[in-house]
Amino acid sequence: VVAQLGIALVLFGLAIWFMRRELVPIEHLGVAADALGKGRDVPDLAFSGGTREVRNAATAFHTMRIRLRRSIQQRTEMLAGVSHDLRTPLTRMKLSLALLPESPETKELENDVVDMERMIEGYLAFARGEGDEDPALVDLSEILEDVAAGARRDNASIDLSWQGDMGVELRPLAIKRCLTNLVSNALRHGSNVRLEAVRGRTSVEIVVDDDGPGIPQDRYEDVFRPFFRLDESRNADTGGVGLGLTIARDVARSHGGDVVLGPSPLGGLRVIVRIPL
Ligand SMILES: Nc1ncnc2c1ncn2[C@@H]1O[C@H](COP(=O)(O)OP(=O)(O)O)[C@@H](O)[C@H]1O
Ligand SMILES: [Mg+2]
Repeated sequence: VVAQLGIALVLFGLAIWFMRRELVPIEHLGVAADALGKGRDVPDLAFSGGTREVRNAATAFHTMRIRLRRSIQQRTEMLAGVSHDLRTPLTRMKLSLALLPESPETKELENDVVDMERMIEGYLAFARGEGDEDPALVDLSEILEDVAAGARRDNASIDLSWQGDMGVELRPLAIKRCLTNLVSNALRHGSNVRLEAVRGRTSVEIVVDDDGPGIPQDRYEDVFRPFFRLDESRNADTGGVGLGLTIARDVARSHGGDVVLGPSPLGGLRVIVRIPL
């Protein structure tokens, strides 16, 4: 009986050892998939052990990661190429328009050409910034201070606060651009702006509040569309070209998070940027 028990124990031990050996690579795969979704460095998945199936899954994952990165890069580059090439005919149009006698029609055309130029420049500026910035563990509070300081240089009043550990893994320049866009929107539409970051269990939320007119709830999705501007007719010359929120959401999503809108307790718009930890 003792011998039988011994054999059973050995077999049991072997089973556990085998299970563990097979489960560890799967766990690695899970960690890697999670990192990929958050736009982070993906740990290398070179398994020597593991069954053939697990190794195949790892290889497939690795290939997928490369293809994914390439296709995103290709999309950005293609749009940048198209934008760049559009400049030449636009310049020609501008020259031709300048030679025409001035009339309300040519004035209108001229404004359209100027608008198109600004849209193209806006996109090109974004595509240029989309370099290979690597995510790093950074102090988010420093980025927040930076963004607030930038706003204060323009004599804006902005309240800044944060709670909890602000050490977060992210792409600092991209996040700064995202927050700068949101804060400048808030300042353009309101006069009091609050910027607050809170670290939760699974994510960091950065909240931008203003006391402006806000956005009607049925336009919440529209304003994220590229080049969409709500107040086009109201004031066409107030800075942006309608890429601010598009870029902000793009940055958040590339970190595996999102940007959402809501009503602010200050009376205007509340924008929440969520970055998963
Ligand atoms: N804080 C805000 N309060 C009210 N409206 C806003 C706010 N932020 C953005 N919007 C609206 O959303 C539109 C899109 O914003 P955005 O993408 O930043 O483009 P832009 O600032 O270039 O117009 C703006 O034209 C504006 O109508
Ligand atoms: Mg804007």
